[in-house]
Amino acid sequence: MSDTTATAGKARGRFITLEGGEGAGKSTQQKLLAAWLREQGVTVVETREPGGSPGAEQIRDLLVTGEAGRWDALTETLLHFAARRDHVIKTIEPALARGNWVVCDRFVDSTLAYQGFGHELGREPVDKLRALVLDRLMPDLTLILDLPVADGLERARQRATSTTAAEDRYETMDRAFHERLRRGFHEIAADEPQRCILVDAAGTAESVADKIRVIVAEKHEDTLS
Ligand code: TMP
Repeated sequence: MSDTTATAGKARGRFITLEGGEGAGKSTQQKLLAAWLREQGVTVVETREPGGSPGAEQIRDLLVTGEAGRWDALTETLLHFAARRDHVIKTIEPALARGNWVVCDRFVDSTLAYQGFGHELGREPVDKLRALVLDRLMPDLTLILDLPVADGLERARQRATSTTAAEDRYETMDRAFHERLRRGFHEIAADEPQRCILVDAAGTAESVADKIRVIVAEKHEDTLS
C-alpha cells in the first residue's frame, strides 16, 4: 500500500493533512490551501476523515452522531481505522499514484489525539492499528492548527448553529477531554518535528492561510516555484 512508485511514470503526489481540535478552522484552511496549490499548477484532491469514500462516509455517520458515550474507546478506534482503511484504498492511494496532491482534513493523528489522549486509550493500540492498517503510509506534511480549548469550542458552537448541529458528538465531550487532546497534538508535534508543524490558529483565516502557504512552499520547494 505504501509503494512509492507511481502509475505511468508519473511522480507520486504529496500527502498533506490538517489536524487540530474543535473549531480550529481546518476546513476553511483546507479550501484556502487547495485553491492556492491549484494556482501553482498542482492537481489537488480534497478529502476528509472520518469519511472521504462512500464506505467511510457511512461509518462517519456512526461516529459523529448520537450519545457521547456511545462507543468505548477501543471500539471507536476500530471504527475510525475501518473507515480510514476504506478511505486510503479507495481515495488516497489512487490519487497519490495518479500524481495528485491529497489535502486531507484529519488523519491518523486525530485518532491518537482523540482516542489515545482524549479518551485515554493510550498510544500502543493506536500505533499497532496504524502499522496494521496503514502499512507505512504517512502524510508528507501535517499542519496542526492550535487554539486554546475555550476559543475553539466557542468557534465550534457558533458554527453548530448553522450547518453541522447534528454532528456534534465530539463537541459535547467535557472540557478536560478537549484539554487532553490539545496536549496530545502538542506531543505529536514534538515527537515528529520533521512531519508535523504546529500552526497558531488564532487570527483571521487569511493570516493563518499565509502562514500555511509559507510552510508548504518551504517543505515542497522542489516542486512549487
Ligand atoms: P470533524 O469535526 O473535523 O469533521 O471531525 C469529526 C469528529 O471526529 C471530530 O470531533 C474529531 C473526531 N475524530 C476522532 O475522534 N478520531 C479520528 O480518528 C478522526 C479522524 C476524527
